[in-house]
Amino acid sequence: MRKLLTTTAIAAVALMALSGCSTRTDTTSGSSAAAGFPADSLIGVALPSKTSENWVLAGGLFEDGLKAAGFKGDVQYAGASTTVKDQQDQISAMVTKGAKVIIIGAADGGQLGTQAKAAHDAGAIVIAYDRLILNTDNVDYYVAYDNFKVGELQGQALLDGLKAKKPAGPYNIELFSGSSDDANAPVFFNGAMSVLQPKIDDGTLVVGSGQTDIKQTATAGWKAENAQSRMDSLLTSTYGAKAIDGVLSPNDTLARAIITSVKAAGKPIPVVTGQDSEAESVKSIMAGEQYSTINKDTRVLVAQAIDMAKVLQKGKTPEVNDTKSYDNGKKIVPAFLLPPVIVTKANAAEAYANDPKLSPLTK
Ligand code: BGC
Repeated sequence: MRKLLTTTAIAAVALMALSGCSTRTDTTSGSSAAAGFPADSLIGVALPSKTSENWVLAGGLFEDGLKAAGFKGDVQYAGASTTVKDQQDQISAMVTKGAKVIIIGAADGGQLGTQAKAAHDAGAIVIAYDRLILNTDNVDYYVAYDNFKVGELQGQALLDGLKAKKPAGPYNIELFSGSSDDANAPVFFNGAMSVLQPKIDDGTLVVGSGQTDIKQTATAGWKAENAQSRMDSLLTSTYGAKAIDGVLSPNDTLARAIITSVKAAGKPIPVVTGQDSEAESVKSIMAGEQYSTINKDTRVLVAQAIDMAKVLQKGKTPEVNDTKSYDNGKKIVPAFLLPPVIVTKANAAEAYANDPKLSPLTK
């Protein structure tokens, strides 16, 4: 696959060269690429609190990967309680220490404008990692898995899982979304609703509680306990006598909290979606409990972000593959989007074949 991609990329470059176009990677005219910087420069990485396993993994991968690339790395996590302030202070410190690139997984995408501006004023390049930074001109690139696609895959998995359990609807479902301070949350939800809304409209799906607005479905802080208590309330208010057939969950942490709630209520486990390929959820999928997750290999995403830093170090403009989807309210942020993969029990072994941590769980 990698070889195929490389060949295709080479062919594309050759074609562009023939037709007189220059490739993005070869141009040095990007405003933020400037003249590069020393190869052993400081690269800052500001991550949110560890609300899911992907963030835990990312920290170690950034430490190792930046070192291997010859950079000095400064990897920080926002704490569990004062997350926004923590992260703002950490980014300011990175700017003061002279970081040339600051890679940010936002704790709150709407509250980093001042820090992004300070980074730019000091000549640093700002890369939004996994989560977009909103309402600022001072973000240069976005590197993430395609969030809308994640939502579409979750919506489709919910439909597929329901159909596999019971050939025809109507199906009773409930909807959960992520934290409202995360710019990804509405994108996941809108992606899922693009698949589910037509089925709600035609009566195939019935949202028992009637709670279909993202304000009603949100899970503050992406916290398991918040999803669990909302599920507890929904079961009491709406599913006393009725069965619940499916739940749209935006990630694995929340999926397991929802399943815990349903089990405690003594009800059969509905079809529950997820995201992140957390080890506990992969086990749950193999045990026939959680229905699906999404594979967004953190190793690949971190490598992509570090590659961007390497290209910038040389004074070149990093490759992007999307220049229209991620409008942050001030600008459309050039993005490099990776493809997410849906995983159910049926394809788990294949999906994690190259992952030494997850692959054994599928045997
Ligand atoms: C990430 C998800 C993660 C969630 C909670 C999102 O921004 O894209 O992978 O599950 O944050 O940590």
